[in-house]
Amino acid sequence: MARRKKIYEGKAKTLFEGPEPGTIVQYFKDDATAFNAEKKDVIEGKGVLNNMLSEYFMTGLTNIGVPNHFIRRLNMREQLVRACEIIPLEIIVRNFAAGSLSKRLGIEEGTALPRPIIEYCYKDDGLGDPLVGEEHIAAFGWASQQDMDDIVSLALRVNDFLSGVMYGVGIKLVDFKIEVGRVYDGDFQRLIVADEISPDSCRLWDVATGQKLDKDVFRRDLGSLTDAYTEVARRLGVMPKGSAVPIKPTLIN
Ligand SMILES: Nc1ncnc2c1ncn2[C@@H]1O[C@H](COP(=O)(O)OP(=O)(O)OP(=O)(O)O)[C@@H](O)[C@H]1O
Ligand SMILES: [Mg+2]
Repeated sequence: MARRKKIYEGKAKTLFEGPEPGTIVQYFKDDATAFNAEKKDVIEGKGVLNNMLSEYFMTGLTNIGVPNHFIRRLNMREQLVRACEIIPLEIIVRNFAAGSLSKRLGIEEGTALPRPIIEYCYKDDGLGDPLVGEEHIAAFGWASQQDMDDIVSLALRVNDFLSGVMYGVGIKLVDFKIEVGRVYDGDFQRLIVADEISPDSCRLWDVATGQKLDKDVFRRDLGSLTDAYTEVARRLGVMPKGSAVPIKPTLIN
């Protein structure tokens, strides 16, 4: 069988050319990185959990009419997605203060924000994904005003959906980040949610105890990341109780 063509190897995922034009296979790795890859580890089973969880959230978004790149899951570690031109921004939505916002503005972690706050970081690992404002985005042409309107609307819809789904299983959605990409349908272009939605890209706290169930467990050495992600998957019914996460990576090429 012909080898698949690798398009990109990122920190958490590898992209391969998909079977049809305009499609990509996303392979979810077990690698965990934080602080712009200064902290690294391999967390067995993380890729499987994120693949399943991202499928779950993207499918939910499709079902409520929020356009996204997910087509179908292929196996435990791979999913087929629609290829898009990624807007070079990380779009962060915050409901409660945490992380860099708390540090920057001196607001205690967990403080409810008066309304959701949307922040943008310019996607550039060399620069450490710096925070940017709409002025920079417009001046440097990273997105048009129409794109920005669409991005805000997508981000807020994802926020309401994810907050509700999480609250239903006793989890508070503190904040999350999404990436958005451009697709073309004939002459018409539109934006869709891309990349992944998983505990790698969200802050999730147990409503009752405040226990962290997201990548902060890794960033702050708070215990087993696999246990935290498995708990999220179990509560959502993505991983049936007792089902073990296959821990050995499958051969991919
Ligand atoms: N539908 C899509 N079409 C094209 N590219 C995508 C799509 N979804 C996600 N991507 C890109 O695929 C890559 C996923 O890999 P990963 O998340 O490991 O990257 P990363 O190490 O975080 O690096 P970076 O996001 O800075 O490129 C990202 O660059 C992301 O922007
Ligand atoms: Mg990434």
